[in-house]
Order: sequence, then C-alpha cells, then structure tokens
Amino acid sequence: MKVLPQWAESAVFYEIYPQTFFDTNGDGIGDLQGVIAKLDYVKSLGCDAIWLNPFYQSPMRDAGYDVEDFCAVAPRYGTLDDARALFVAAHEKGLRVIVDLVPGHTAETHPWFQASIRGEEPYRDWYIWTDTAWDNGGKDFAGKFVHGTTPRDGNFMINFFAHQPALNFGFGQPDQSWQLSTTHPNVRKLWDEMQQVQRFWLEQGADGFRIDMAGSITRKDKDSTETRRFWEECRNEVWGEDTFTVAEWSWPATALDGKGLHSDFLHWIPSYENLFRKGQESADSWFHQSGKGDLAAFLKDYDHHYQKTNGKGVICIPCGNHDLPRISTGRDTLDLEIVHAFLLTMPGVPFLYYGDEIGMRQLPSQPYDNREGCYGTRAGARTPMQWEDGPSLGFSTAPADHLWANLDRAAAAPTVAAQQPEPASLLNRMRTLIDLRRSEPALRASAGFTVLHCEPKAYPFVFLRTAPTGERVVVVLNPAARPFQIEVDVPGTLHTHETLRTIATTATVADGKLKLTGTDSGYGIFKC
Ligand code: BGC
Repeated sequence: MKVLPQWAESAVFYEIYPQTFFDTNGDGIGDLQGVIAKLDYVKSLGCDAIWLNPFYQSPMRDAGYDVEDFCAVAPRYGTLDDARALFVAAHEKGLRVIVDLVPGHTAETHPWFQASIRGEEPYRDWYIWTDTAWDNGGKDFAGKFVHGTTPRDGNFMINFFAHQPALNFGFGQPDQSWQLSTTHPNVRKLWDEMQQVQRFWLEQGADGFRIDMAGSITRKDKDSTETRRFWEECRNEVWGEDTFTVAEWSWPATALDGKGLHSDFLHWIPSYENLFRKGQESADSWFHQSGKGDLAAFLKDYDHHYQKTNGKGVICIPCGNHDLPRISTGRDTLDLEIVHAFLLTMPGVPFLYYGDEIGMRQLPSQPYDNREGCYGTRAGARTPMQWEDGPSLGFSTAPADHLWANLDRAAAAPTVAAQQPEPASLLNRMRTLIDLRRSEPALRASAGFTVLHCEPKAYPFVFLRTAPTGERVVVVLNPAARPFQIEVDVPGTLHTHETLRTIATTATVADGKLKLTGTDSGYGIFKC
C-alpha cells in the first residue's frame, strides 16, 4: 500500500478559514464564493491543495466545529451548490480541496443529540450518557461529563467545549453498564453514519479530510486499537486511491499504522512550543535571531514518531493554523522565510496558514475574545485576509466596523497588493520556496530524512533529504543572528554540490565532507 496518494507527495496545502478569507456579499463574513474568487491567488502561490475549515450548518459556538448538520452548508457561507462549484472550479485549476471532518462531537442543537435526549433509537446510544445524573463517570475514567439541563436522567460526556457532546464510537474495554462496546448495534450504526458523511463529501467533490481530534473517538481503548480500526475501515471502504487524510491527533506513533490515516499533525506536544514560540515570547523560541532556543528537544520527540511511522504515513508540522498564534510576532521577513524554509523542506505535507505568506500579524483578541469559540489567541489569528489597501483591506465591501473579526488597521499592515510587485517581499520569497519544494524529488513528503547536525540549545540545524530515486538535498537552517562554521559527513560519496537557494550561507565540498559557513541568520538548500 502506498504511504500517500501520489499527488499528496509533492502537494503544498493552503489552509483557508472561510469566515475571514474573502467576503463576496458584503455581510462582513467570508463565504464560499469568496474562496472561489481567490483560487487563482492560491494557485499563484504555487500551492496545489486547500484545507477548508468547517463551513457546515452550525450554531457557531465553536466557529463551525460544533456541527448541527454534517451535510448542509451554513447559510452565511452559501449553499451546497456553492460547495460543489468550489470543488469543480478548484479541480479545473488543478487544485485539490480537503474539508474538515469533525467526527468526535456535534453541537447540542444537532437533531441526533436532541433525539438522544428523548431516548429515541438508535440515537439514545450515539452519545455517552451515564445511567443517572448521580453518576459522573467514575474517578478512574478520564472523560468529562456535564449535567445538561436535559430531561434525560444521566450526565453526558463532552469532547471539547461543554456544548459539544461526544459522539459514542464505543469503548474498547467497557466495564460499566453505560459503556457500550464498539460492536454494539447502535454504536455500529454511528460508525456507518460517520462513514456515510465522508462518502457524501467525496461525492460532492472533496479530495479528502482534515480530521478534527481524530484520536478521541473511542474510549477506554488500549493502544487506540478501535479508533484505528475505524480509520482503517474508512480507508478500505470509503476513501478512494486518491483520497488524502490528515489527522489532528498529534501522536503520529499511534495515529499512523499504514492502514488508516495518511498523515498526522504534530503540534500539541510541549516541545513544539520551543520551536516557534513560548506563549508569545518568540525570543525564547528556536526560530529567532536571539539564538536562545532549543530544537533538539523537539527533534527528539519528532524522531521517536518518525522512526515508528516511516513508511506508514507522514508527519506534518504546521507553523500556523486557526488554533495557534500567528508566527509573525517578533519576527522579520528573513526570520519568517527561515521558518517557512523549515516547513517546506522537512518530511511530511506542508500546510501554510492563510496570510502567513505575507506575514499577517497576531492581533489583540479584544473585542472579539470568546466570540464563536475564539477564546484567547484564537481570535487574533483568525482575522480578515489583507488583500489590498482600503477601508477593509479588500476583504469585504462592508466597513471595518461591520466585519466578523478584528481588522489589522496599522498603516504598515502587510497586504498582497503591496508585496506582489516587490521581488524581495515575503510573498515572493514564499513563492520561490514553494516552487523549490514542489520541483525537488528529495523534498517529497515521504522522501528520506537524516539529521546531520543538531546540538541541544545550538545552531544551525542541518539535515539530508533523499528521494527513492537517489536525488539528495541538504538543508541548513540558522535562525540565530551569529556566524557558524561546521563540517558534516554526507553519507555516500560527495564530489560536488549545487546551490538551490541560500541566504548568508555557503557550502563547499572537500575530502567528501560538506563544509558549511554562515555569516548571519540565514539558510541554505543544496543538492548533493
Ligand atoms: C479544532 C478547534 C476546535 C476543536 C473542537 C480542534 O482541534 O481545530 O478549532 O475548537 O477541535 O472541535
């Protein structure tokens, strides 16, 4: 079995948060027609795939991750016809589109949950209810239960926010009367239904799924055996050869067994924080000119997952998404280019968060904190895309005060239009990097990866990527604003090298070794 569908090997994804990408009807909220209108822009970046965050019918208490109807489009974003038109238009331009699948919970307003409250078959068992309101699930059980104001006697388990009741995919080792096994007939009906939801979106034209909290669907499940069985069934019975999936599990060693999910994001681990930011203290992160950060800790975790999953699936390391603070805080254009050089040269499929290609800033969350589940830093990372000069920066014809989210009103707010003509702008540097990533076989998602140099709390980081066809690329990353000089052994014979892209870095070959010199913060990508 292939690790990934062929197209995903060289794909570069662009994550679009529909609320704030482009508004075509002037209501201050982005929409699906807006995504269609900007497909040429996505293509102009060199990206060839899109991850579209939820656009389903929802009470919007978690910006659409609280789904009320898995197969309907929220009116604020358009209609099902718009979604189909988006898939068609994207495909015509050679772009693939994966959509969010939120299998683990629904909104409280979902008709399934309402029927579950009433005890109707089979829905009574589609959520996890204790037998009485006195039972909170037991102290040895990690699930979080709430006592809703429902007439049903019992507490229901939640998955994330208190208004997101967990769907019941069953228990691996049930030991209480209310814990149903994964093979219970009603639970099986939910498995079938969640597979039907996937079939539905594939039939509409989607090319795959980003799977929300993919590891959390079953409970008391040793080694997540039953969760993995569910994804394996999906791969065998629902997904096609060309369907691509990326999990938000953040534990690839378990998520990727070569039978189900194709890839997993690795970012909900403590060492990831050291890479890009500690809270908002970017100066403590490894990707910073101050040169105080530690990459080795992350790399140790990464290596654990890489060794266990190599050949079975790929690990994706995002540097931004709708849940993370923007990467640009405390970083200049070069810093951001180095961050993206990492994103685009490491193994796995790269996902670029909309607006990061122009260095959009993290904004204060006020006054939108907690609006539609945008608590904390989320609100400030989900702000309107900055297209061009103008009252609403080209995002909408609605005035800035009527937009769904905070707009960057600084005079220096980066825009696509301003960066477009500047050859040295972040936008154009990103295009060069994306181009490189897509054209080099050694930079494919599952091409080999060997660390050549990485010391605790030190710089630079040097690694080798190797294509199955033999092409090799060495990448040197030095975010610290200080010089370095090192020699690395590149396995095999090394006679010469070709420079693919460098900033403040040079390489020479002598006695079969690669001698690398850095004069300041920068990076180098060499073919060896
Ligand atoms: C999504 C969040 C969402 C949560 C609950 C996540 O991990 O990315 O935005 O709030 O799942 O669905």
